[in-house]
Amino acid sequence: MAKIKKIAVFTSGGDAPGMNAAVRAVVRTALAHKLDVMGINRGYQGMIEDDFVKMKSKSVRNIIQRGGTILRTARSEEFRTPEGRKKAFDNLKKHKIDAVVVIGGDGSFKGAGIFSQEYDIPFVGMPGTIDNDMFGTDYTIGFDTALNTVVEAIDKIKDTAFSHDRTFFIEVMGRDAGFIALKAGIATGAEMVLIPEVEGQEKQLEELLQSSEKSSNIIIVAEGNNIGGAHEVAKNFGKKYKDHGVRVNVLGHMQRGGSPSAFDRFLASRLGVAAVDAIIDNQRSIMVGYKNHEIVHVPFNKTIKGKRDIGEELLRVNDILAK
Ligand code: F6P
Repeated sequence: MAKIKKIAVFTSGGDAPGMNAAVRAVVRTALAHKLDVMGINRGYQGMIEDDFVKMKSKSVRNIIQRGGTILRTARSEEFRTPEGRKKAFDNLKKHKIDAVVVIGGDGSFKGAGIFSQEYDIPFVGMPGTIDNDMFGTDYTIGFDTALNTVVEAIDKIKDTAFSHDRTFFIEVMGRDAGFIALKAGIATGAEMVLIPEVEGQEKQLEELLQSSEKSSNIIIVAEGNNIGGAHEVAKNFGKKYKDHGVRVNVLGHMQRGGSPSAFDRFLASRLGVAAVDAIIDNQRSIMVGYKNHEIVHVPFNKTIKGKRDIGEELLRVNDILAK
């Protein structure tokens, strides 16, 4: 196999706190191994539009604590087309890139998997999404920070909910997964969490509202749950339970911003070193993940096809405590 001399790194999909720490780790590890390294701005779209930038050690100075991503990010429609991917390949060749590190979610890995079947360029992935919904890793970069942001916000809402004996429906991110909602529910002592992984929660919600008139309730609504968004659920149930003084809070994109937690910085740093190590080791089409406090390598097709289980034990803990 040809010796790797130059690599590229980019961030893709929804941004997540810790992506900068991940970029920093990749750049510094590459330089430590005497590899040249380029950053690609705006994900796959920047690869198509030739938006490459040479990275030096100084380029990643003072970013470990910053939220967002200095390389910016995008969800590229053009990369879904063979013509788009051809342009991306031509640009990678033009810059003499031998291998690529992609930091993103499963959609980003899917794109990488398709691309490296068509063109002979190795890709290694690092899991970066606040949703924590990736198969093969216990944690994704950004989840811990987002969870802490949500917990802080809900604690504040709880104060006012209690004072007024109101029921709050609080919508959190997670269009396909309830990890943020469930863990935030346990950590804030919420009365209920509505998540995509559990069917038929209407009855339970009805029972809660019937039994808790004139007391406060925190109901966390994951975006992708099976009943509806927080506004919709509040409207449908609020009509019947007028005494609950129903209010709605959609936390939205504040969950994606902010300085990464110590855990996310640490995770991103470890995974960044592991990603470059894997490239030097001539690995391809794998994600570097973190399982039981160890680095693991998971083939892209497993991370893409596998569905990360929400965990029966977490559901049980929540069921026992949310009374
Ligand atoms: O995948 C991360 C995520 O934050 C989801 O939780 C959310 O549904 C989605 O991205 C929002 O995407 P956008 O920023 O494109 O609206």
